[in-house]
Parts: sequence; structure tokens; C-alpha cells
Amino acid sequence: MRNFITIEGCDGVGKTHQTRRLKEYCSERGYDVVFTREPGGSDIAEQIRKIILDANNSEMDDMCEAFLYAAARIQHLKDIVKPALNQGKIVFCDRFVHSSYVYQGLGRELGLDKIVKLNELAVGEYMPDFTIFLDLSPEQAFKRKGGADKNDRMESVDFSFHQKVYQGYKNLIAENPDKFEVIDAGGTAEQTQSLLRQALVKRGVFK
Ligand code: TYD
Repeated sequence: MRNFITIEGCDGVGKTHQTRRLKEYCSERGYDVVFTREPGGSDIAEQIRKIILDANNSEMDDMCEAFLYAAARIQHLKDIVKPALNQGKIVFCDRFVHSSYVYQGLGRELGLDKIVKLNELAVGEYMPDFTIFLDLSPEQAFKRKGGADKNDRMESVDFSFHQKVYQGYKNLIAENPDKFEVIDAGGTAEQTQSLLRQALVKRGVFK
């Protein structure tokens, strides 16, 4: 069984924190896992990440942004994800194609179909087996973290952008419920982590 699991959610939902705790849990239990993230995750892909997220690049064309995310993804798959899956490891990836669908396809309004096609070229058969969605609205997320990060080009866009992103995720989940585990991220960090692990047991990833 292949275990390629991606983790998605709006900015500020606590994805980074939850992923770090999951990583600690996996190493305590001795699971053979690789934790990685997008954009970035490998040397060349991290260089592309810097260009994408640099707040000075405010003139970046939306389509250029979409291609850069896809380009970083191709390299990251080659360097990290494919070798790990081929060795039978569990791969957890913090953001993947669904981020492009909702941020570029819907948030930037480039069109979901176009971004799905672009990512088919980038990803081929390496679609996630399922996706964990940390569910918290952008209103609640930004309230909790005390506002958006102004040095992050993606976080600092209009609030309506983040609402489109959230709604986009919800629609993708409604269309393909089997491919998602929706985790309520509105409780304490402890509660969210516990729900996350339960979902991974249910999916047969953890014992
Ligand atoms: P990051 O600081 O990693 O955010 P987070 O900790 O919330 O994951 O920045 C990643 C940003 O890039 C985030 O705002 C989402 C955005 N993004 C896209 O717009 N498209 C994509 O394909 C990916 C992978 C990320």
C-alpha cells in the first residue's frame, strides 16, 4: 500500500505546529516516515519558494506564480517524494496540488480547470492517496494568530482571497469526500492533534 498523505488548510490554521507534533509522534513510535513541505522541500524547490513568497515580488504575474508552484513541485517530487515512496516510506507533505487548485485556480481566479491541467503535467500519477484538511475559517484563523504576516506575499493579500480559498477547499471536499479527512482545527492544539491521529488510524496508516 502506498502512503502519500498531504496536509492542507488555510493560512494560520496551525498546520505547521500540527505537522511538527505529528513528526515527533512518528519518531517516538518508530514509523518510517518522511515529512516534507511545499512550496519547497528540496534544495532547488526551496530556491523557487523564496522567489514565490518574497514580498518584494509584488509585480509577479498570477500565471507565473502558478507555474512556479508547479515547477517547484516537479523538482520536489523528483528529489524527495518519489524516492521515499519507492522505498516504501510514508510521506506526509505540508501542502500539495490542492493548494494550487484553491489559491491559484480560485483565489487568483485563474480557473480551476487550467490549474488542474497544469498540475496533471507536473504530478502525473503521484497524486496523494488522501488529504488531511485542517478545517478552520480564515476569520477564525487570523483572529487566533493576531493577523496576517505582512512579509509573506501570499498571506498579505485581501481577506476575500482567503475566503475564496476556504470555500474552494470545502467544494473540493464535497465533490470528493473519500479523498479527504476533515479535521476540526477550532479546538486546542491537543484536541486537533488527537483528531488527526485518530483519522490516520482509521485510514490504516497508524496502528
Ligand atoms: P507557508 O509559509 O508555507 O504557509 P503555511 O505555513 O500556511 O503552509 O507559505 C505557503 C504559501 O503558499 C501559503 O500562503 C499557500 C501558498 N501556496 C499556494 O498559493 N499554492 C501552492 O501550490 C502552494 C503549495 C502554496
